[in-house]
Amino acid sequence: MRMRRKKHLNERIEKVRDVLIEMQCRGEDVFAPLHEDKFFNSQRVFGNNNPLYIEIGCGKGGFAIKAAKLIKDINFIAIEKNPNVLVTGAEALMKDNLPNLKFCIGEAENLTHLFKENSAERIYLNFSCPYFKKSYFKNRLTYSRFLKVYRQILVPDGEVHMKTDNQNLFEFSLEQFSQNQFHLKNISLNLHQSGFKDNIMTEYEEKFVAEGLPIYRLEAVNKKI
Ligand SMILES: C[S@@+](CC[C@H](N)C(=O)[O-])C[C@H]1O[C@@H](n2cnc3c(N)ncnc32)[C@H](O)[C@@H]1O
Repeated sequence: MRMRRKKHLNERIEKVRDVLIEMQCRGEDVFAPLHEDKFFNSQRVFGNNNPLYIEIGCGKGGFAIKAAKLIKDINFIAIEKNPNVLVTGAEALMKDNLPNLKFCIGEAENLTHLFKENSAERIYLNFSCPYFKKSYFKNRLTYSRFLKVYRQILVPDGEVHMKTDNQNLFEFSLEQFSQNQFHLKNISLNLHQSGFKDNIMTEYEEKFVAEGLPIYRLEAVNKKI
């Protein structure tokens, strides 16, 4: 589905360039070469080699902003395919001026155009779109084709942390992680009743919790064979 661009979106994006990094995209030509200098380089982007946490499908970026404020010795990159929502987060980040967070407009499909092997310590998937129809399951961010990419860019023992309100997506994800050599731990079927202390709420989570819905959470560890 083609997204309608909000009025003045291009002007708004130009104003937040300082907090954005670009993800190279091959477009129509899948054989077009990728540029070495466009791959993520921690020194160039953050001026240090601190561990990297990536959030995929960050929406308006509330989670990433809170996380970067709390955990200052981690670098964060929050990726979102819809510029209409991401621009709101980027505008907030311009005001907060956090040195350890950048946003990126891009699709999970192109992650390997930005990150080299063994680049990231952690990936967050917060309330990813559930894509209810079976024919759309391949777009779920925990579908096997994405997990293979996460395995590539995660360091050995790197982790994917996932939260969702959707039981069907959660069960599907448990299966997909297991079938793709991830080890599962800290599985919760009702996060907010579980006593888990370090939770950082996302925009969607606030809405679902207010509606009284249980939140499912898991951690999947990338065990390299
Ligand atoms: C339901 S929203 C959740 C937003 C936020 N994580 C939260 O919890 O408040 C899911 C977001 O994932 C984004 N998304 C879906 N598929 C994606 C993909 N392949 N690459 C990047 N972002 C994606 C959507 O555009 C949407 O903004």
